[in-house]
Amino acid sequence: SLGLMTEFMGRHIHYEESVESTQKIAQRLVYEEAPEGTIIIAEEQLSGRGRMDRKWYSPKYTGIWLSMILRPNLPPPKAPQLTLITAVAVVQAIEEMTNLTPQIKWPNDILLNGKKVTGILTELQADADRIKSIIIGIGINVNQQVEDYPEELQPIATSLSIECNQQLKRAELVQILLLKFEKLYTLYLEKGFYPLKLLWESYAISIGRNITARTVTGSLYGKAMGITDDGVLLIEDSAGKVHQVYSADIELEN
Ligand code: BTN
Repeated sequence: SLGLMTEFMGRHIHYEESVESTQKIAQRLVYEEAPEGTIIIAEEQLSGRGRMDRKWYSPKYTGIWLSMILRPNLPPPKAPQLTLITAVAVVQAIEEMTNLTPQIKWPNDILLNGKKVTGILTELQADADRIKSIIIGIGINVNQQVEDYPEELQPIATSLSIECNQQLKRAELVQILLLKFEKLYTLYLEKGFYPLKLLWESYAISIGRNITARTVTGSLYGKAMGITDDGVLLIEDSAGKVHQVYSADIELEN
């Protein structure tokens, strides 16, 4: 058992040895009316999914591959806020388990020493004015060693174990993560996004730095100014014009 200290997060847990993707299982459970806080967690994913149709490398027994089902009573444009809150929860959980200080790269990559340790993927089911459910997938690289990664991932990916030189208990990390998330999510539902936005910005790596944002329509270079209440990234170009970026890959200038 996970020894959970939560009220609703993880009260229904689907534990699987091997799956295609925990996101896919979550979709089925949403359809079967699984309650808010339902968690799907797997030891291995055979086709883990990332943002922008990428693959997410999810080898057996080394990482945390989990999806959470939420059913907030909110309009669809608020969904990105939940992804940002999730990133804060992951950072806080890592800080509590280790002496590491992870940073968030907008919108939702978590980095250690410039390499990715966690990715978050949010999938939304909504009608015009209400979210019906939201599935937040979290992949945390925990106990992998450098040589466990395919060569092309070695320069860009890392794990908690690589960074802190010890093996970590994954169950304990899940337990802390769900508790952190539940606290932040409850705060958000009570007080709105503003306090969470301040927290997010305090962990964000890109704010105040020059970045290149690559979007589907092209790339934009400028200074990252912060995020709006909707989680939209603001970039100021060299002419002083501020652009809103809804979805992009960010490259940080050295
Ligand atoms: C990204 O950075 O592109 C997001 C990666 C999200 C990976 C997690 S692992 C659990 C869940 N199931 C998936 O197939 N993907 C997410």
